[in-house]
Amino acid sequence: MQDGVIEVAVALDMSLGESPVWSVERQTLYWADINNGHLYAWRPQEGGAPTRTELGEKVGCVALDEAGLVAATASGILRLPAGGKPERLADNPEWQNARQAAGQGNRFNDGRCDAAGRLWVGTIDADETSPSAALYCLDKGELTPRLTGIGISNGLAFSPDRRWLYHTDSLSRRILRYPFDLDSGTLGEGQTWVDLERLGLPGVPDGAAVDSEGCYWSALYDGGRIVRFSPEGELVAEHPVPCPHPTMVAFGGPDLRTLYITTATQHLDAEGKARWPLAGSLLQMRTGVKGLAEPGFGG
Ligand code: BGC
Ligand code: CA
Repeated sequence: MQDGVIEVAVALDMSLGESPVWSVERQTLYWADINNGHLYAWRPQEGGAPTRTELGEKVGCVALDEAGLVAATASGILRLPAGGKPERLADNPEWQNARQAAGQGNRFNDGRCDAAGRLWVGTIDADETSPSAALYCLDKGELTPRLTGIGISNGLAFSPDRRWLYHTDSLSRRILRYPFDLDSGTLGEGQTWVDLERLGLPGVPDGAAVDSEGCYWSALYDGGRIVRFSPEGELVAEHPVPCPHPTMVAFGGPDLRTLYITTATQHLDAEGKARWPLAGSLLQMRTGVKGLAEPGFGG
Protein backbone atom coordinates (compact mmCIF):
# COMPACT_ATOMS: atom_id res chain seq x y z
CA MET A 1 0.00 0.00 0.00
CA GLN A 2 1.31 3.40 -1.01
CA ASP A 3 0.66 6.58 1.03
CA GLY A 4 -2.33 8.54 -0.22
CA VAL A 5 -3.61 5.86 -2.61
CA ILE A 6 -7.17 4.69 -2.00
CA GLU A 7 -7.88 1.01 -2.62
CA VAL A 8 -10.37 -1.68 -1.61
CA ALA A 9 -9.86 -3.21 1.83
CA VAL A 10 -12.92 -5.48 1.73
CA ALA A 11 -15.11 -5.71 -1.38
CA LEU A 12 -18.75 -5.50 -0.23
CA ASP A 13 -22.13 -4.38 -1.48
CA MET A 14 -23.28 -2.41 1.55
CA SER A 15 -26.26 -0.09 1.35
CA LEU A 16 -24.96 2.32 4.00
CA GLY A 17 -21.54 1.33 5.35
CA GLU A 18 -20.81 3.44 8.43
CA SER A 19 -19.13 3.86 11.79
CA PRO A 20 -15.71 2.20 11.32
CA VAL A 21 -13.92 1.89 14.67
CA TRP A 22 -10.56 0.24 15.39
CA SER A 23 -9.79 -1.66 18.56
CA VAL A 24 -6.06 -1.42 19.33
CA GLU A 25 -6.41 -4.18 21.91
CA ARG A 26 -8.12 -6.62 19.55
CA GLN A 27 -6.45 -5.36 16.34
CA THR A 28 -9.92 -5.52 14.84
CA LEU A 29 -11.92 -3.10 12.74
CA TYR A 30 -15.66 -2.95 13.35
CA TRP A 31 -18.25 -1.19 11.23
CA ALA A 32 -21.95 -1.25 10.37
CA ASP A 33 -24.23 -1.39 7.37
CA ILE A 34 -26.94 0.82 8.85
CA ASN A 35 -29.79 -0.02 6.50
CA ASN A 36 -29.29 -3.79 6.63
CA GLY A 37 -28.69 -3.90 10.39
CA HIS A 38 -25.33 -5.63 9.95
CA LEU A 39 -22.27 -5.38 12.16
CA TYR A 40 -18.91 -6.37 10.70
CA ALA A 41 -15.67 -7.37 12.43
CA TRP A 42 -12.40 -7.84 10.55
CA ARG A 43 -8.79 -8.51 11.47
CA PRO A 44 -6.78 -7.20 8.49
CA GLN A 45 -3.51 -8.92 9.45
CA GLU A 46 -5.22 -12.29 9.16
CA GLY A 47 -6.25 -11.52 5.61
CA GLY A 48 -9.55 -13.42 5.81
CA ALA A 49 -13.12 -12.30 5.30
CA PRO A 50 -14.93 -10.19 7.91
CA THR A 51 -17.52 -11.77 10.18
CA ARG A 52 -21.04 -10.36 10.00
CA THR A 53 -23.71 -10.21 12.72
CA GLU A 54 -27.36 -9.45 11.95
CA LEU A 55 -29.04 -7.21 14.51
CA GLY A 56 -32.53 -7.39 13.03
CA GLU A 57 -32.98 -3.61 12.95
CA LYS A 58 -31.07 -0.60 11.61
CA VAL A 59 -27.84 0.16 13.44
CA GLY A 60 -26.52 3.74 13.37
CA CYS A 61 -23.15 3.30 15.00
CA VAL A 62 -20.96 1.03 17.04
CA ALA A 63 -18.48 1.74 19.85
CA LEU A 64 -15.96 -0.34 21.78
CA ASP A 65 -16.82 -1.86 25.14
CA GLU A 66 -14.67 -3.90 27.52
CA ALA A 67 -16.89 -6.94 27.05
CA GLY A 68 -17.44 -6.48 23.31
CA LEU A 69 -19.31 -3.68 21.60
CA VAL A 70 -22.02 -1.12 22.19
CA ALA A 71 -24.39 -0.47 19.28
CA ALA A 72 -26.94 2.33 18.83
CA THR A 73 -29.72 0.66 16.87
CA ALA A 74 -32.91 2.29 15.63
CA SER A 75 -34.80 1.50 18.81
CA GLY A 76 -32.13 1.89 21.45
CA ILE A 77 -28.62 1.38 22.74
CA LEU A 78 -27.43 -2.19 23.27
CA ARG A 79 -24.39 -3.68 24.90
CA LEU A 80 -23.24 -6.68 22.87
CA PRO A 81 -20.86 -8.79 24.96
CA ALA A 82 -18.72 -11.12 22.81
CA GLY A 83 -20.51 -14.45 22.82
CA GLY A 84 -23.10 -13.24 25.35
CA LYS A 85 -26.68 -11.96 25.41
CA PRO A 86 -27.42 -8.36 24.32
CA GLU A 87 -28.27 -5.98 27.15
CA ARG A 88 -30.49 -2.92 26.53
CA LEU A 89 -28.84 0.17 28.03
CA ALA A 90 -31.34 2.80 26.85
CA ASP A 91 -34.38 3.25 24.63
CA ASN A 92 -34.36 5.75 21.77
CA PRO A 93 -36.82 8.46 22.90
CA GLU A 94 -37.45 9.48 19.27
CA TRP A 95 -38.23 6.04 17.91
CA GLN A 96 -41.91 6.54 18.66
CA ASN A 97 -42.75 10.18 18.15
CA ALA A 98 -45.90 12.11 17.42
CA ARG A 99 -45.16 12.57 13.71
CA GLN A 100 -44.42 8.96 12.89
CA ALA A 101 -46.23 5.68 13.39
CA ALA A 102 -44.96 3.65 16.33
CA GLY A 103 -41.50 2.32 15.68
CA GLN A 104 -40.89 4.49 12.64
CA GLY A 105 -39.52 7.62 14.22
CA ASN A 106 -35.97 8.96 14.15
CA ARG A 107 -33.34 6.24 14.39
CA PHE A 108 -29.96 6.60 16.05
CA ASN A 109 -27.12 7.67 13.75
CA ASP A 110 -23.48 8.71 14.22
CA GLY A 111 -21.81 8.47 17.64
CA ARG A 112 -18.63 7.77 19.62
CA CYS A 113 -17.29 7.61 23.16
CA ASP A 114 -15.39 10.42 24.86
CA ALA A 115 -12.21 9.76 26.85
CA ALA A 116 -14.26 9.43 30.06
CA GLY A 117 -16.32 6.58 28.56
CA ARG A 118 -19.57 8.48 27.91
CA LEU A 119 -21.35 7.57 24.68
CA TRP A 120 -22.37 10.57 22.55
CA VAL A 121 -24.88 9.57 19.91
CA GLY A 122 -27.27 11.53 17.71
CA THR A 123 -30.45 10.77 15.82
CA ILE A 124 -31.55 11.45 12.24
CA ASP A 125 -34.88 12.92 11.17
CA ALA A 126 -36.91 10.08 9.64
CA ASP A 127 -37.37 12.08 6.41
CA GLU A 128 -33.87 13.63 6.58
CA THR A 129 -35.45 17.07 6.14
CA SER A 130 -36.68 18.66 9.38
CA PRO A 131 -34.83 19.61 12.57
CA SER A 132 -36.54 16.97 14.73
CA ALA A 133 -33.38 15.07 15.76
CA ALA A 134 -30.95 15.57 18.64
CA LEU A 135 -27.56 14.71 20.07
CA TYR A 136 -27.64 12.64 23.28
CA CYS A 137 -25.13 11.60 25.87
CA LEU A 138 -25.32 8.27 27.70
CA ASP A 139 -23.55 8.71 31.01
CA LYS A 140 -23.88 6.43 34.05
CA GLY A 141 -27.00 4.81 32.65
CA GLU A 142 -28.78 8.13 31.88
CA LEU A 143 -29.50 9.19 28.30
CA THR A 144 -29.96 12.97 28.07
CA PRO A 145 -30.43 15.28 25.06
CA ARG A 146 -27.52 17.72 24.78
CA LEU A 147 -28.22 19.48 21.45
CA THR A 148 -31.63 19.72 19.81
CA GLY A 149 -33.08 21.09 16.56
CA ILE A 150 -30.87 18.86 14.41
CA GLY A 151 -31.75 17.29 11.04
CA ILE A 152 -28.97 14.68 10.66
CA SER A 153 -26.57 14.30 13.58
CA ASN A 154 -23.10 13.41 12.29
CA GLY A 155 -19.35 14.03 12.46
CA LEU A 156 -18.97 13.63 16.20
CA ALA A 157 -15.33 13.76 17.34
CA PHE A 158 -13.06 15.24 20.01
CA SER A 159 -9.80 17.19 19.83
CA PRO A 160 -6.78 15.27 21.22
CA ASP A 161 -6.51 17.76 24.12
CA ARG A 162 -10.23 17.06 24.82
CA ARG A 163 -11.04 20.77 24.83
CA TRP A 164 -13.38 20.61 21.81
CA LEU A 165 -16.31 18.50 20.71
CA TYR A 166 -16.90 18.56 16.96
CA HIS A 167 -20.35 17.96 15.52
CA THR A 168 -22.31 18.57 12.36
CA ASP A 169 -25.91 18.72 11.32
CA SER A 170 -25.22 17.41 7.80
CA LEU A 171 -28.21 19.39 6.46
CA SER A 172 -26.50 22.66 7.46
CA ARG A 173 -23.26 21.81 5.54
CA ARG A 174 -21.37 23.28 8.50
CA ILE A 175 -19.20 21.68 11.17
CA LEU A 176 -19.44 23.28 14.61
CA ARG A 177 -17.15 22.97 17.58
CA TYR A 178 -18.19 23.27 21.20
CA PRO A 179 -15.89 23.97 24.17
CA PHE A 180 -15.87 20.66 26.04
CA ASP A 181 -15.13 19.84 29.66
CA LEU A 182 -14.13 16.20 29.95
CA ASP A 183 -14.55 15.98 33.74
CA SER A 184 -18.15 17.21 33.81
CA GLY A 185 -19.08 16.35 30.21
CA THR A 186 -20.52 19.85 29.70
CA LEU A 187 -20.56 21.79 26.43
CA GLY A 188 -20.06 25.53 25.93
CA GLU A 189 -21.50 27.70 23.18
CA GLY A 190 -21.10 26.17 19.70
CA GLN A 191 -19.28 28.07 16.97
CA THR A 192 -19.16 27.46 13.22
CA TRP A 193 -15.76 25.94 12.59
CA VAL A 194 -16.01 24.81 8.95
CA ASP A 195 -18.52 25.97 6.33
CA LEU A 196 -18.54 23.84 3.16
CA GLU A 197 -20.45 26.59 1.34
CA ARG A 198 -17.77 29.18 2.04
CA LEU A 199 -15.01 26.73 1.03
CA GLY A 200 -16.82 25.79 -2.20
CA LEU A 201 -16.81 22.10 -1.20
CA PRO A 202 -19.48 19.71 -2.51
CA GLY A 203 -21.70 17.28 -0.59
CA VAL A 204 -22.43 17.26 3.13
CA PRO A 205 -20.15 16.58 6.10
CA ASP A 206 -20.71 13.02 7.31
CA GLY A 207 -18.56 10.94 9.71
CA ALA A 208 -15.10 11.95 10.90
CA ALA A 209 -11.91 11.03 12.74
CA VAL A 210 -9.28 13.22 14.41
CA ASP A 211 -5.58 12.38 13.91
CA SER A 212 -2.65 12.69 16.34
CA GLU A 213 -1.90 16.20 15.02
CA GLY A 214 -5.40 17.31 15.93
CA CYS A 215 -6.60 17.50 12.32
CA TYR A 216 -10.18 16.47 11.52
CA TRP A 217 -10.79 14.10 8.58
CA SER A 218 -14.33 14.41 7.26
CA ALA A 219 -16.11 12.20 4.71
CA LEU A 220 -18.07 14.39 2.30
CA TYR A 221 -21.21 12.40 1.51
CA ASP A 222 -22.26 13.10 -2.08
CA GLY A 223 -19.01 15.06 -2.34
CA GLY A 224 -16.88 12.05 -3.34
CA ARG A 225 -13.91 12.97 -1.16
CA ILE A 226 -12.27 12.94 2.23
CA VAL A 227 -11.11 16.33 3.45
CA ARG A 228 -8.68 17.14 6.25
CA PHE A 229 -9.05 20.29 8.34
CA SER A 230 -6.41 21.81 10.64
CA PRO A 231 -7.37 22.55 14.28
CA GLU A 232 -8.02 26.11 13.05
CA GLY A 233 -10.59 24.80 10.58
CA GLU A 234 -8.46 25.38 7.46
CA LEU A 235 -8.72 22.92 4.59
CA VAL A 236 -5.28 21.24 4.43
CA ALA A 237 -5.85 18.19 2.19
CA GLU A 238 -8.40 16.66 -0.16
CA HIS A 239 -8.50 12.99 -1.20
CA PRO A 240 -10.92 12.05 -3.98
CA VAL A 241 -12.69 8.74 -3.30
CA PRO A 242 -13.74 6.41 -6.17
CA CYS A 243 -17.46 6.77 -5.34
CA PRO A 244 -19.77 9.70 -4.52
CA HIS A 245 -20.81 8.64 -1.00
CA PRO A 246 -18.00 8.06 1.49
CA THR A 247 -19.64 8.06 4.93
CA MET A 248 -17.00 7.92 7.67
CA VAL A 249 -13.31 7.30 8.33
CA ALA A 250 -11.29 5.61 11.10
CA PHE A 251 -7.57 5.18 11.66
CA GLY A 252 -6.46 1.61 12.27
CA GLY A 253 -3.91 -1.05 11.54
CA PRO A 254 -0.97 -1.99 13.80
CA ASP A 255 0.60 1.49 13.44
CA LEU A 256 -2.71 3.46 13.30
CA ARG A 257 -1.67 4.79 9.91
CA THR A 258 -4.31 3.13 7.73
CA LEU A 259 -7.38 5.24 7.14
CA TYR A 260 -10.42 3.02 6.67
CA ILE A 261 -13.30 4.54 4.71
CA THR A 262 -16.87 3.24 4.66
CA THR A 263 -19.09 3.96 1.66
CA ALA A 264 -22.73 3.76 0.57
CA THR A 265 -24.77 2.69 -2.45
CA GLN A 266 -28.17 3.83 -1.09
CA HIS A 267 -28.35 6.93 -3.32
CA LEU A 268 -27.05 5.26 -6.51
CA ASP A 269 -29.24 3.87 -9.29
CA ALA A 270 -28.14 0.95 -11.51
CA GLU A 271 -26.16 3.30 -13.75
CA GLY A 272 -24.42 4.87 -10.75
CA LYS A 273 -23.53 1.46 -9.35
CA ALA A 274 -22.04 0.42 -12.69
CA ARG A 275 -20.05 3.64 -12.86
CA TRP A 276 -18.76 3.37 -9.26
CA PRO A 277 -18.10 -0.35 -8.70
CA LEU A 278 -16.26 0.34 -5.43
CA ALA A 279 -19.30 2.01 -3.83
CA GLY A 280 -20.54 -0.12 -0.94
CA SER A 281 -17.08 -1.50 -0.14
CA LEU A 282 -14.72 -0.80 2.72
CA LEU A 283 -11.81 1.26 1.34
CA GLN A 284 -8.39 2.05 2.78
CA MET A 285 -5.56 4.52 2.40
CA ARG A 286 -2.15 4.72 4.09
CA THR A 287 -1.45 8.09 5.73
CA GLY A 288 1.75 9.87 6.80
CA VAL A 289 0.11 10.85 10.07
CA LYS A 290 -1.04 8.50 12.84
CA GLY A 291 -4.54 8.27 14.21
CA LEU A 292 -5.56 8.13 17.86
CA ALA A 293 -6.64 5.10 19.85
CA GLU A 294 -10.43 5.09 20.23
CA PRO A 295 -11.71 5.16 23.82
CA GLY A 296 -14.33 2.61 24.81
CA PHE A 297 -17.64 2.79 26.65
CA GLY A 298 -17.38 3.07 30.41
CA GLY A 299 -20.87 2.36 31.64
C1 BGC B 1 -26.90 8.91 7.47
C2 BGC B 1 -27.47 8.76 6.10
C3 BGC B 1 -27.36 10.08 5.37
C4 BGC B 1 -25.93 10.52 5.38
C5 BGC B 1 -25.68 11.86 4.73
C6 BGC B 1 -25.50 9.38 7.38
O1 BGC B 1 -24.96 9.55 8.64
O2 BGC B 1 -26.97 7.70 8.18
O3 BGC B 1 -28.77 8.31 6.17
O4 BGC B 1 -27.84 9.96 4.05
O5 BGC B 1 -25.46 10.61 6.71
O6 BGC B 1 -26.31 12.91 5.37
CA1 CA C 1 -22.83 9.24 9.44
